[in-house]
Amino acid sequence: MSALESRDPYTAGYQSRSADLARAIATEIGLDQDKIDGIYMAGIVHDIGKIAIPAEILIKPTKLTNIEFSLIKQHSVSGYEILKDVESPWSLAEIVYQHHERMDGSGYPRNLKGDEIIMEARILSVADVVEAMASHRPYRAALGIEAALEEIKKNKGTLYDDAVADACLMLSSLSASTRMVASSERVFSIPMVCVFRFSHVLSLSAILDPTKISDTFLNFRLTRDVLFNIMNRTSLFIM
Ligand SMILES: [Fe+2]
Repeated sequence: MSALESRDPYTAGYQSRSADLARAIATEIGLDQDKIDGIYMAGIVHDIGKIAIPAEILIKPTKLTNIEFSLIKQHSVSGYEILKDVESPWSLAEIVYQHHERMDGSGYPRNLKGDEIIMEARILSVADVVEAMASHRPYRAALGIEAALEEIKKNKGTLYDDAVADACLMLSSLSASTRMVASSERVFSIPMVCVFRFSHVLSLSAILDPTKISDTFLNFRLTRDVLFNIMNRTSLFIM
């Protein structure tokens, strides 16, 4: 269980499924292995900024108010703040900062447009939307994989990068990949950080389980070091 998952059970497994899908899209597009690894790692931590949002808002079962939604939107900025000083070979902070931007400039937090959005973030944003729509959320049931793919198809070229959307739709046409995206039961998680919050007392422990790291993500030492750095930064940020 990650730091965030301990506070928002609906996020359990969700970040890692987004990471899996983002990696599959990046592979389909033909990015080099280093970029694919970076996208995967960013996918695993992309919503880490939600750690700074009150848990009552994260698990609120009814529609969010405008103020609550603006607080949620802050998670991209908080994620950037947590990750910006983490030593890593990848642009994790920037990818996380941009993961809710949209190609036509309608995203947040900076309303970036087109080429201003790095490819890693364009990929993660599509994976994130598909997973979010396919998953159950506190305020609604899962909308389903078909609705998620329809959303990508409908807004291909406006909200979502053309090539990224095509790769995602191509993957979804393969039955194995569809199962990967659609399975709400599948929980693959690197339990990198556990945060236990008792009133205002916070303790932090890190557990790394190499058996949970996928075969294609082999650079375990590097991964472990980056995750420990993120954990340290997260604890500083919360305290
Ligand atoms: Fe997010």
